[in-house]
Amino acid sequence: MKKLAKTHPDKLLDLLCERLTFERSGVQLYDAILAKMTKSKAPKIKDMLPQMKEHRDQEKEHEEWLEEQIRALGGDTEQLTEMAKLTKAESVGIENVILDGDPKIPHLFHALLAAELVDNTGWELLCDLAEEAGDEDAQSEFEQRLEHEEEHLELVKQAVEMFAIRDVLGEDVPAPTGP
Ligand SMILES: [Fe+2]
Ligand SMILES: [Fe+2]
Repeated sequence: MKKLAKTHPDKLLDLLCERLTFERSGVQLYDAILAKMTKSKAPKIKDMLPQMKEHRDQEKEHEEWLEEQIRALGGDTEQLTEMAKLTKAESVGIENVILDGDPKIPHLFHALLAAELVDNTGWELLCDLAEEAGDEDAQSEFEQRLEHEEEHLELVKQAVEMFAIRDVLGEDVPAPTGP
């Protein structure tokens, strides 16, 4: 992370705090969805549980890894930086749906899709920045996490498609269970 932090370390910290805020919220979103999925009796919802649990744990790993990086750069993991604040404000709608108890599981996946699209783009941005700075170590760490995010997005997209195929076309397709 040294090359990346060379010019404006405070701006890098702001960006990492933004990701951290998002990942923390992501863990809460997954926990809330998993709690509702666990109570569901629908076989297709049950089929998606193992993969969703794995993705939840990956969000947690992202959160903890970011905390380590922020501390190593002398930052404060609890500081609500400018970009962290922006992310918090932007996430309110998604959290209202998922944390405040919309009972419909397809609605939860719909909201999670919005979160995962931003999650993917956030890690992609970090990868691009590290590449631009010639920081190969940081780039490889970011890319590992971007790979997880691509899998999260694919599963959620497929789940939203499954619900739409059922509702609009009246067809039954198997639940996505990951790669
Ligand atoms: Fe994430
Ligand atoms: Fe994610």
